[in-house]
Amino acid sequence: MAGAIAALASCATEPQSDIDKKVDDLLSQMTLREKVGQMNQLSGGAWLAETAAKGEVGSILNCVDPAELNAVQKAAVEESRLGIPILISRDVIHGFRTIFPIPLGQAATFDPAIVEKGARVAAVEATASGIRWTFSPMLDIARDPRWGRVAEGAGEDPYLDVQMGVAMVKGYQGDDLSDPTSMAACIKHFVGYGAAEGGRDYNSTMISERSLRNTYFPAFKATAEAGAATLMTSFNEIDGIPSTGNKWLLKNILRDEWGWDGMVVTDWNSAGEMIAHGFSRDLKHTAEQAVNAGVDMDMMSYGFIQYVEELVAEGKISEKEIDRAVRNILKLKFELGLFENPYIDESASAKVDYAPKHLEAAKQCAIESAILLQNKRNVLPLDKARTILVTGPLADAPYEQMGTWAFDGQKEHTVTPLAALREEYDVIWEPGLKYSRDKDTKDFAKVRNAAARADAAVVFVGEEAILSGEAHSLSNLNLQGAQSELIAEVAKAGKPVVVVVMAGRPLTIERDLANCDAMLYSFHPGTMGGPALADLIKGKAVPSGKLPMTFLRDAGQAPFYYNHNNGGRPCNGTETLLEDIPIAAGQTSLGCTSYYLDSGYGPLFPFGYGLSYSSFEYGRPVIENAELERDGTIRVSFDLKNTGRYEATEVAQLYVQDKVGSVVRPVKELKGFQRVTLAPGESKTVTFELPVSDLAFWNIDMEYVVEPGDFRLWIAGDSASGEPVDFIVK
Ligand code: NOJ
Repeated sequence: MAGAIAALASCATEPQSDIDKKVDDLLSQMTLREKVGQMNQLSGGAWLAETAAKGEVGSILNCVDPAELNAVQKAAVEESRLGIPILISRDVIHGFRTIFPIPLGQAATFDPAIVEKGARVAAVEATASGIRWTFSPMLDIARDPRWGRVAEGAGEDPYLDVQMGVAMVKGYQGDDLSDPTSMAACIKHFVGYGAAEGGRDYNSTMISERSLRNTYFPAFKATAEAGAATLMTSFNEIDGIPSTGNKWLLKNILRDEWGWDGMVVTDWNSAGEMIAHGFSRDLKHTAEQAVNAGVDMDMMSYGFIQYVEELVAEGKISEKEIDRAVRNILKLKFELGLFENPYIDESASAKVDYAPKHLEAAKQCAIESAILLQNKRNVLPLDKARTILVTGPLADAPYEQMGTWAFDGQKEHTVTPLAALREEYDVIWEPGLKYSRDKDTKDFAKVRNAAARADAAVVFVGEEAILSGEAHSLSNLNLQGAQSELIAEVAKAGKPVVVVVMAGRPLTIERDLANCDAMLYSFHPGTMGGPALADLIKGKAVPSGKLPMTFLRDAGQAPFYYNHNNGGRPCNGTETLLEDIPIAAGQTSLGCTSYYLDSGYGPLFPFGYGLSYSSFEYGRPVIENAELERDGTIRVSFDLKNTGRYEATEVAQLYVQDKVGSVVRPVKELKGFQRVTLAPGESKTVTFELPVSDLAFWNIDMEYVVEPGDFRLWIAGDSASGEPVDFIVK
């Protein structure tokens, strides 16, 4: 390590003020060029050694080869003047080697504990390969399944987003960033990226300040408060201002209002893209706007490294801004203990990758994330069947079942449903289709004949991994290729048909439900998806997942979410549909409420929905004190009874409506949930405690307050059920 900072390098467990001192000492020795070098993030590995030796790169992404990483680190630490180590980053989104269900699937568990465990496993595996910074969690509220990136987040609801985001941050970062198994989290994409118009990735968003504050900010604020070390700006513009150049977002909100002191990185060339937005004249202008807006590190636009010195000389960026940025970067490097341990033990990953307990956690997460959408005549579980037909393009697709952003998961380690079901049944295997977009039906007769010979058929359909994720928007959400036809063909054999959907987003599966008895929606379940699904199908495990997004009848209903604002003409259940309209009908408004003539007013399945092999009875909620002060706590209890035959877990959900506000309020909002496990016949009194302060929102004066008045709450198994109970806040 170069002499100048050797004396500084022992801070990892020292108090924050000591780190600040070390940062200041180091900063005082740096040239402007070296400072700008720290603000530069590049994609690559060993071939960046020369750049690293010059101190012109602060962080790298997209390299996971320990030997290459050590080579570039050596150049930075031993050859650059100040020996500042490089921060190595990667998109570790839902696991590193052991791939967990996609984040949307993880959200379906409604189980922050298993999600935190998944993030911890990811951190242990990724750090063993030298990755100390992940670009996760993605906190973008996503209400349009046409947007391919719905796969990467927690779905449509701000409260669930907070719970999942905080769990991931805790799991990645552990208790102490200096622990070699801790990985800095990056909350992204700040902000509103998921609201892209029409679900078209990278598109414009129009989000009012109030709705940013009420809906899009909460998960960022909560994870910032939970200690998330870094934040990424988003590609989109809001109301004409790209996030990467948005001073209000990055300074007023993030720093001044929230008091967050982490490090801000751009998204990949999101600074450079401000030229295409027509917000910046040229690359130099992008650097000026981004740094002045509050960005600390530039991911891959090359604008900072080329122009920041010039901009400082011209007085367009002050050195104070540069010091702010570099301070945030160095602080993180000190906190991570990089100065003490910059190198990777090249044999470490072999000891932890795919460790049995990692696989076990991934399996548990996949079990909890599967949602039972339909189970006619209780055909599931298939506990009596001996011979089953396994068919469909996702039944034995080890790469596809890992889903999007699974760069480092190796398909050789994936266990597919076909492999796992072979352990449980006599399996007749007929793929029917080669991949999800396959339209070739020539093998369908074979599949139908095989179904006739089996006790039951299980059809694995869905999306290949490449169909969701970044830049994978779709306008049609039906199953691709001839998958629906395959299900219909199997149904002709007259045997029980179970469909399992492995996909990156909610698909429009209404017509497929009609052709099967049972449907499990597993999203892309990851490395251990096969054993998890086999346990569910066999009845060794019972489904408990709940939908983290509203499921649509038709893509034309998007965006569609349960917690929309009250409208002036809400649906009342008497809406006229297309087939009810007389021929040559007179010019009249049909029903005058908010709905579609062709797909009605409801979704296919509401947010929070999910069945079990068992059944549950919800007693009426009883509020301990139905008149509350603003500093009070709502205590509401109800009896939950398992009325079925299986020990099972129910996710009980608490929704609240603020009946009248100074601004229009949502029809209802999730405010709590609990996973409750009950034996057959068992009942339990379950209590929710909700501080009245959790009912606050950004009101007409843009103040965050609880407005006194009438409220109602529901406790139910999904967002569309339950009887309301009233209460008052005085
Ligand atoms: C672009 C994506 O939007 C972002 O989520 C990701 O972290 C970066 N690329 C780095 O790969």
